[in-house]
Amino acid sequence: MTAERDEILRVEGLGIRFGGLVAVNDVAFTVRRGEVFGLLGPNGAGKTTLFNLIAGALRPTSGRIWFEGRDVTRLGPDRRSRRGIARTFQITQPFAELTVEENVMAAALVRHRSLAEMRAAAGPFVEMVGLAHKRHALAKELSTGQRKRLELARAMATGPRLLLLDEVTGGVDQASIPGLIDLVARLRAEGMTLILVEHNMRVIMRLSDRMMFLNRGEKLAEGPPDAIAAHPDVVGLYLGAAHA
Ligand SMILES: Nc1ncnc2c1ncn2[C@@H]1O[C@H](COP(=O)(O)OP(=O)(O)OP(=O)(O)O)[C@@H](O)[C@H]1O
Ligand SMILES: [Mg+2]
Repeated sequence: MTAERDEILRVEGLGIRFGGLVAVNDVAFTVRRGEVFGLLGPNGAGKTTLFNLIAGALRPTSGRIWFEGRDVTRLGPDRRSRRGIARTFQITQPFAELTVEENVMAAALVRHRSLAEMRAAAGPFVEMVGLAHKRHALAKELSTGQRKRLELARAMATGPRLLLLDEVTGGVDQASIPGLIDLVARLRAEGMTLILVEHNMRVIMRLSDRMMFLNRGEKLAEGPPDAIAAHPDVVGLYLGAAHA
């Protein structure tokens, strides 16, 4: 199976319904190692739900998920994290009463036994996201942009080989956006495999190698960023709205 040698994630026939709502419907795609796969779609398209399915927070109603050639469909989120899948949350979820460093240490728990080991492991990630000066600040004292940085550090501290980023720039003040985009660009340059949810068309086009367009839980298109940007539905939903 040489053609699939570089494949890190495979999703087939994936679906989930919440009562009568089909939030993700028969979605299939693969992601190659080292690639940035951009996920585009309007509000409610099912992007975060897809992340929940890949990370194991939700069990699909149908379909299967393979990570590094192994079926992980039935594994819970902790075991998937240990296998190398990490994610950030659209609404950040740090331990509010813990410090920045402690939050990252807690994420590193997966890989380390002693407190000293965890602290040593956390340091580089706190620095990587530019929060060294906030190391001892409580998570609840951070700005939204800083909280997004903490999310990234927490995800990276688990030692992922696949990282799901859910709107890293979402809800963040304008001034913090370029720094966050730079951080994602650095992860990309270092060869991290990323699935990126991002509403800003220019940003997602610049960062992605391939993109998938999702609407009402269904995959409408997949391809290079230019082709996705030119897709009639994307034009209608994004560019039309942007020019309105
Ligand atoms: N746990 C849940 N229970 C019931 N419905 C849900 C649940 N999670 C998501 N949904 C619904 O599934 C649909 C897809 O939601 P999802 O959050 O995945 O969209 P999204 O593409 O991430 O949107 P946004 O761009 O606003 O973040 C929505 O209609 C949402 O209301
Ligand atoms: Mg979402």
